[in-house]
Amino acid sequence: MKRRQFLRNAAGAAGLMIFPKASSLAFSQSADARIEVLLDQRLGTISPNIYGHFAENLSGVVYDGIWVGEESKVPNVNGIRKQLVDEMKKINPSVVRFPGGCFADSYDWRDGVGPVEKRPRRTNFWNGGEQAPAPDSHRYDPNRFGTNEFVQFCHLVGAEPYLAANLRSLPAEEFYRWVEYCNSPAGSTTLADERGAAGFKDPFNVRYWGVGNESWGCGGNFTAQEYAVEYRRFTSWVPCYGTQRPCHDLSFVASGPNDDNWEWTRSFLEEVIKKGRNALRGIYGLALHYYAWNLSRGKTRDWIQGKGDAVDFEPVDWYELMRQGDVMESLITGHWQVMGEFDPEHHVKLVVDEWGPWYRPGSELTPTDQLEQLPTLRDAVFSGMTLDTFNRHPDKVAMACCAQLINCLNSLYLAHEDKFCISPVGHTFAMYAAHQGGESLRTEFSAPSIHYDRDGQPASFWGLQGSASLHDKDLVLTAVNPSVKDSVEAQIVIRGAKAASGTSEVLAASDIHARNTFEQRDAVTPKAGQLKVNGEGLVVRFPAASVTKLVLRLT
Ligand code: AHR
Repeated sequence: MKRRQFLRNAAGAAGLMIFPKASSLAFSQSADARIEVLLDQRLGTISPNIYGHFAENLSGVVYDGIWVGEESKVPNVNGIRKQLVDEMKKINPSVVRFPGGCFADSYDWRDGVGPVEKRPRRTNFWNGGEQAPAPDSHRYDPNRFGTNEFVQFCHLVGAEPYLAANLRSLPAEEFYRWVEYCNSPAGSTTLADERGAAGFKDPFNVRYWGVGNESWGCGGNFTAQEYAVEYRRFTSWVPCYGTQRPCHDLSFVASGPNDDNWEWTRSFLEEVIKKGRNALRGIYGLALHYYAWNLSRGKTRDWIQGKGDAVDFEPVDWYELMRQGDVMESLITGHWQVMGEFDPEHHVKLVVDEWGPWYRPGSELTPTDQLEQLPTLRDAVFSGMTLDTFNRHPDKVAMACCAQLINCLNSLYLAHEDKFCISPVGHTFAMYAAHQGGESLRTEFSAPSIHYDRDGQPASFWGLQGSASLHDKDLVLTAVNPSVKDSVEAQIVIRGAKAASGTSEVLAASDIHARNTFEQRDAVTPKAGQLKVNGEGLVVRFPAASVTKLVLRLT
């Protein structure tokens, strides 16, 4: 079964050891690995937007995860789960994408605005996959959480809203009206009055708009050429409320390829520029979706059969997930190359607005939550590896959204009623937030490869990878050690500066399956430490199966 078919149907490890280089020279000379940070090789600014999130109206994501209601005994801010708000504020969430996903192309934004008691109930796109006794709100959308509530949620957590418009089942006019509702100045239009009557006099100034979602599948089953025509039509005259022309207030994200579908990227851009290359200026980003789901080690391409278990896995499954995740780099560079054929100046950037591992059902903390899975340390390492990949391509990746924020797939948080926990993935995001807005630096990692048995065949995977960014005098270096059993000791060399002091944070555990649950909320949490550094380098031991962040003050 293919993903598009599925969607159709579904409608203690030892702590980090730090050795100052000067006092352990002999040791450093025998270090297994080397990390060389090249301060004079700047790759570009890491957009905070690559630390973005995705919240689809899907099962327990919105209703229960984000929205608990004003009357709830669960602490809330105007109906929004307070603990989620408090935790998100700590990770600088930059953008949140809503309402889908596939849900977006079935959603009428008008259902979710206006007086609450008048809002209609509609069949949720994901209704077909819900199992009894899932709450009614997961099957029939009560529309209690609509545009106003979503934008308020974004304001509370300090993120920019990124709305995904319905291209499959609503006319372009409805897209214009949604923009008008969100962005027209106070008192200027009937829709601005409607927004004001709901308590939101000032415009929301929503900048990021997705124009359909997965238009090759649930978003209309278009060919790339057909979608390109629709995209041009939808975006060619959208109301803009700023003073500048062409409009800089709106950034449109086109539905892009599924993993390595180069043909989609090529055909879409080829068709878009048929009316002139100027059309490229109307595309802020091309959305790439990539899920690491096939853990069958090449035995099948079936969307159901190919999946692995989220919590019950062997070391070989761990490495298989890492291999799948490592593909992200070639997807970025591959699509970028194709994009360059039509857009040599690269006006259009990549927006990886859905990424993460996708396992088979069975590990849900809340059994009725469709597509919920329980993230382990493996997913934290996977997520660190993915964020490092984005950091290394700041010129190409303008935005990325982890799928999804809460109670779904690669969740940062899990919640049910009054229970809440931060997943290991959430901790990775908290650690990596330090990269936002920094200058990405070319950093060379050389480490012995990991060797393992893959169904009787020798297989290998790299031993250490990561990224580095400069923030004035602070160097932020993150790295993952994907080995399930061996720590790796690396000499860190900073070319062009000396480190005066530093701190470390390490996410690791003695069991590769470690995860946080409502009962055991702190089984996997980062451990902070101080680095004793003097001189231009140091030696660091990275524990097996770990995510590490170092912050070095440079002189
Ligand atoms: O994230 C779950 C689903 O995966 C989204 O709705 C869809 O865009 C993708 O196929």
